[in-house]
Amino acid sequence: MKTLVKALLSLLLLNSALHSAYHAKGMEVYKKMCSKCHGGPFRGAKMHTTAEWEDIRDASKTPTLTLHKGHPEALEALDRGYFSNKREQALYKFLIGNAKDSGAVPGCDANYCGSSKQ
Ligand code: HEC
Repeated sequence: MKTLVKALLSLLLLNSALHSAYHAKGMEVYKKMCSKCHGGPFRGAKMHTTAEWEDIRDASKTPTLTLHKGHPEALEALDRGYFSNKREQALYKFLIGNAKDSGAVPGCDANYCGSSKQ
């Protein structure tokens, strides 16, 4: 019985560690690719709700390029070798995990620190 509980607990821990690892990766991608135009990562993630991000992500194979179709300066910034499919997936995991309706409470970042102004 004890072993079972321990096994379940460590699975839970592993799961959340994996989860936050994905988020950390996605946040790093956001900071590199999006911050300069859209502000800090948590602020950026709150541009949309979970369902909206999922729709955006599923609408095309290159959702971020599709989003910026009419904005050449953004397309240019995103058209770097760095922005791979894998990194884009991590980015959307982060965005979805921290969406407007996710209930995630962000810590401080460069632009946002729980101030009521935003
Ligand atoms: C060079 C500047 C630039 C960069 C870099 C950039 N964007 Fe944008 N983005 C824009 C502009 C300009 C618009 C269109 C203006 C608008 O709709 O507010 C836009 C629009 C968007 C929208 C739609 C806004 C809405 O209200 O639906 C989303 C979502 C978005 N960007 C996410 C991202 C993400 C995620 C990244 C990083 C992978 C990124 N952008 C990188 C400039 C940029």
